[in-house]
Amino acid sequence: MSLKHKIIIDTDPGQDDAIAILLALGSPELEVLGITAVGGNVPLLLTQTNARKICELAGRPDIKVFAGASRPLVRSLVTAENVHGKTGLNGPDLPEPTMPLQEQHAVDFIVETLMREESGTVTLCPLGPLTNIALALNREPRIGDRIKQIVLMGGGFFEGGNITPAAEFNIYVDPHACEVVLGSGIDIVMMPLDVTHKALTSASRIAAFRGLGSRVGTAAAEMLEFFERFDEEKYGTDGGPLHDPCVIAYLIKPDLFSGRRCNVEVETGSELTMGMTVVDWWGVTSRGKNATVMRDIDAAGFFALLVERLGRLS
Ligand code: BDR
Ligand code: CA
Repeated sequence: MSLKHKIIIDTDPGQDDAIAILLALGSPELEVLGITAVGGNVPLLLTQTNARKICELAGRPDIKVFAGASRPLVRSLVTAENVHGKTGLNGPDLPEPTMPLQEQHAVDFIVETLMREESGTVTLCPLGPLTNIALALNREPRIGDRIKQIVLMGGGFFEGGNITPAAEFNIYVDPHACEVVLGSGIDIVMMPLDVTHKALTSASRIAAFRGLGSRVGTAAAEMLEFFERFDEEKYGTDGGPLHDPCVIAYLIKPDLFSGRRCNVEVETGSELTMGMTVVDWWGVTSRGKNATVMRDIDAAGFFALLVERLGRLS
């Protein structure tokens, strides 16, 4: 029996998704059962291709990559080429992948895996819009009781939004899917912008990746240099926020993060605040606590972990 923590990464790479995948593949505590792609930062055809590029960069062409939903449950797809570039992975020059895309649909893979593996042993790690996760829960509600935890990157409260003044990108793209997940009763840990905006890729942190002197280290530095240029200008910071790796880092070193359990609801009606995550941080309602919302991070510890683990992929 494997003693590793079994995870499925649901993702829309994206440079920060790519670093999250590399972190997972460089971490011996984790067993990546599969990577499921979703349309988000760029359309599905690119996200599933990018996921395979990253597995090959990590020297792991054996990882199973599945394509899932190409569009959100209800709304039209919104993408973010302005942040991630035309391919979603602009920065390094990575070869077209030769490892295959799995034939099975991502949603079927998620359902089948959760029904097969021992109940309470598999954690879902959504790094993009929650469409695939919601579709899986709708398809087979029994998986809700079998999922160990959902640790997701999405939302923002004190920090506001990044795609609209009120909403964070992943949740904004598919707020209806987020509603399904928040209402599922599953143990949820949320990494919102309140955390990720404290995990900034400063010049010295990027230099540490480059300093690994490996293909992975160089590609990581090139991805982050491309990725941060937009956010540095937007936020006026030294470096951009490194969102998605927070999810994987939490599984390895939860003490890097702090937050509290509270009620979170998502706006699906108002166009003005569409996709806003309304967090009852102060407990001013009697609504049930449905998520652990993180607010702080030990950023130095987080980047030290990243460099050490990406270093193992050399
Ligand atoms: C999230 O949106 C995407 O652009 C990033 O990959 C991250 O998952 C941050 O809002
Ligand atoms: Ca993402």
